[in-house]
Amino acid sequence: MKAAVIYTSVTGNTEDLANQIYQGMRKQQMNVDFISINELDYDTLPDYDIIAVGTYTWDNGDLPMEMEELFIEFEEQDMSHVTTGVFGTGDSFYPYYCGAVDLFRDMLYVHTNLAVTLKIELTPQQDDLIRCEKFCDRLTRTLVPA
Ligand SMILES: Cc1cc2nc3c(=O)[nH]c(=O)nc-3n(C[C@H](O)[C@H](O)[C@H](O)COP(=O)(O)O)c2cc1C
Repeated sequence: MKAAVIYTSVTGNTEDLANQIYQGMRKQQMNVDFISINELDYDTLPDYDIIAVGTYTWDNGDLPMEMEELFIEFEEQDMSHVTTGVFGTGDSFYPYYCGAVDLFRDMLYVHTNLAVTLKIELTPQQDDLIRCEKFCDRLTRTLVPA
């Protein structure tokens, strides 16, 4: 089983969350790559069995610009064998709270085996640890049958 956590972050909130999810997946004996979007080789995407995507939200509920290519690659490559989860941080002060998570969720539901989503208010707190664990459990248990 090969897994990846692919994330973007400007002020560190989503990176913290991505790191917790990475640690959670490693606890489940997964072979996981931890990849910042700037370092991603898009051709490797179909090589993974599990991908967790992490994003913050920008500009009235939108995707960060650096996540647009990843979004398109999921749509254009054959990714139906890949189990996915999407997580993100946002600020409920804005009308479209974690809108980028919703955008990824709807697309991944169509093009992959979407297992789980997770939204966190700004930076992960102690209480959020259990939600991260549940995210990892669901992700690693909802595999596409061979
Ligand atoms: C200009 C700007 C626009 C934002 N728009 C939204 C938004 O529409 N919805 C939302 O939930 N959060 C929004 N946020 C909040 C960020 O998504 C939030 O601070 C996030 O945790 C940042 O993640 P990072 O620390 O990983 O960069 C916005 C923040 C800024 C600065």
